Amino acid sequence: MKALLLSAYKKLEVTEMPRPVPGPEEVVVQVAACGICGSDVHGYDGTSGRRIPPIVMGHEAAGVIAEVGVGVSSFKPGDRVTFDSTVYCGECDYCRNGQVNLCDFRQVVGVSCGDYRRAGAFAEYVVVPQRILYKLPDALSFPEAAMLEAVSVALHAVRLSEFKGGETVLVIGAGMIGLLTLQAARAGGASRVIVADVDATRLKMAKEMGADEVLELSGAELVTEVMRLTAGKGVDVALEAVGRNETVFGAIDSVRKGGTVTLIGNISPEVTLPLQKVVTRQIRLQGTAASAGEYPQAIDLMTSGKIRVKSLITAVAPLSDGPQWFERLYAREPNLMKVVLAPSQTSEVSR
Ligand SMILES: NC(=O)c1ccc[n+]([C@@H]2O[C@H](COP(=O)([O-])OP(=O)(O)OC[C@H]3O[C@@H](n4cnc5c(N)ncnc54)[C@H](O)[C@@H]3O)[C@@H](O)[C@H]2O)c1
Ligand SMILES: [Zn+2]
Ligand SMILES: [Zn+2]
Repeated sequence: MKALLLSAYKKLEVTEMPRPVPGPEEVVVQVAACGICGSDVHGYDGTSGRRIPPIVMGHEAAGVIAEVGVGVSSFKPGDRVTFDSTVYCGECDYCRNGQVNLCDFRQVVGVSCGDYRRAGAFAEYVVVPQRILYKLPDALSFPEAAMLEAVSVALHAVRLSEFKGGETVLVIGAGMIGLLTLQAARAGGASRVIVADVDATRLKMAKEMGADEVLELSGAELVTEVMRLTAGKGVDVALEAVGRNETVFGAIDSVRKGGTVTLIGNISPEVTLPLQKVVTRQIRLQGTAASAGEYPQAIDLMTSGKIRVKSLITAVAPLSDGPQWFERLYAREPNLMKVVLAPSQTSEVSR
């Protein structure tokens, strides 16, 4: 099969590799679409340490089952599917508790980090355990389905924020995750969603996706404006989808007393914490990692049009164009959102 191999840092090549064989409880998926994630781009040059070559990356995928191993009963060849990016064990205390994203033996598809190496979906075929699979409705195209992973991240962040309905929400960062979080917050019952970013193009998209107000502000200026818009009270929930000192501060300063700051962004390994503000204003800081069971909800919300992803897809390109798309994303070319690679373009998977 053809696969896009990271053979050395910043060196991607389309090569011929053996097609994987399913073990017990495993399926081989013929990959129709696989999105390039920001974490793949950060892994590409070695800075994150989570894509140690050689590795076939890619964890935001959808396709058709090509082959099933022994013990696979719920899926059959020809089924249209997507899968969780987290490969969880299903048996540890966290898995039994439904917190599969915190599994003690967690692996991520398309990641190699020293502890493990697991081939991903920038290839014609990928092998995954059946327990992480979800069937796709015909109404969802494969490129859209490749966005389910990111949609699930947004839904998980909103779930952990414990909306009761009617909240005023601030989303900081209108990138891929922020724009989906905006829509997830709306679907989760928020009545007013304010979105902040420093990039006007991103804010234009936020407006199109249903933001009530967009603010091209950061730091103290952002906080002043949020306070003005909320009559000096602050928002009920701030969802931080950037991950820098300035934006984490902005989130903490913008919530009301007793409010929640949900931390999604993690671009910086450390930020300083305004301890007294958090303690005396009784603010809840809630971290959120990947997703834990939100795929079915994500599929429903996308199928019903409550979460829209089409305009977030910049391009759908053949696997052979992968190296040049990685270069463009790595060079931070403006106005690029999600780039989806299509490793298999047979008639079966072209829907
Ligand atoms: N917790 C999780 O499970 C999870 C999952 C996926 C991504 N992430 C993290 O979420 C963050 C966002 O990911 P993404 O894919 O949306 O990235 P992205 O690059 O698409 O978006 C980041 C956005 O932040 C904006 N930004 C930068 N500085 C800003 C500032 N000072 N004020 C306001 N906005 C600012 C940028 O203009 C951009 O629109 C990253 O840190 C990523 O690592 C977390
Ligand atoms: Zn990802
Ligand atoms: Zn587990």
